[in-house]
Amino acid sequence: MSRKEFIQVSLEANLFFQRIMKEHLFFIETNLQPVDDGFIAEANILKKSFEDLLGETVVFANCAIRENILKSNELVTSYTLNAEKITSKLTGASINTNITEAEYDLKAKPNFDYTEWLETKIHDINCRSLNLLEEVIEFKEKLLDLFLDCDIYVSLYPEMLGHLIAEAKLYYNILKALAKKTLPEMPVCDELRFWNHVMEDHAEFIDGMLDPSEKDLKKKAEEFAKTFEKLVEESIKCHEKDLVEKSKAATEEIRDFKKSATEGLLNCQIKSIIPPLLADHVLREANHYLRILKEIKI
Ligand SMILES: [Fe+2]
Ligand SMILES: [Fe+2]
Repeated sequence: MSRKEFIQVSLEANLFFQRIMKEHLFFIETNLQPVDDGFIAEANILKKSFEDLLGETVVFANCAIRENILKSNELVTSYTLNAEKITSKLTGASINTNITEAEYDLKAKPNFDYTEWLETKIHDINCRSLNLLEEVIEFKEKLLDLFLDCDIYVSLYPEMLGHLIAEAKLYYNILKALAKKTLPEMPVCDELRFWNHVMEDHAEFIDGMLDPSEKDLKKKAEEFAKTFEKLVEESIKCHEKDLVEKSKAATEEIRDFKKSATEGLLNCQIKSIIPPLLADHVLREANHYLRILKEIKI
């Protein structure tokens, strides 16, 4: 892979996943119980470490990433800053919103100079992200084990902790490939199965976290879960072209649903136990998947 490709792919993956990781740690930090103050402190430190890495990445990413990444709204949406401010205020846990503001100012520049110096810097960030990620995966797995043994209580579904681990492992595989200066590639149907399963989980979490009185929204969430469950099954048979089209249509729909849910939560119009930042987080993951779907060439 060329130097330009290495720099762009690294920056784009890090911008997306470093934020996803620090938000996972924020959700863990704010859903553990006061008795587990040691784990809360650990989640907080890991969150801040990923935040620091993201802050560094944003500086190097300016002008160096592709226009379509900026346009995809997978890095930040127009709701992110507001969702962060409200969720931080409601939980008391810290979020560095300066990073978000810097991300709103990111630009793409087609004739950007991809220097050897920048390649070294990016390689260094990749290595540090990989080391930190190993710790994060271990931490999440430890919490899930303790939770399943009923030794701790977390107000996140065990299935959600498993979901956070799966997303971290995907990022891990990407960083492993980049450490060898190779393109992180997955067979198309494996990638579709992974993300369709992520979308299915999101629909189930939303369904389970909405207030029982929100009947219409719960019904819609349930329908999305069924749609994506079917798409996961279809990805085993794997008719690529057909599956890409169907996944794109379903993801556009769930993206719209998540978008209006984020708005509704920010405006206090939906009864639920979904923090606004979680709604924005799953919206960005849908945007990320949609951008991947648009880039698949069959
Ligand atoms: Fe996530
Ligand atoms: Fe997710």
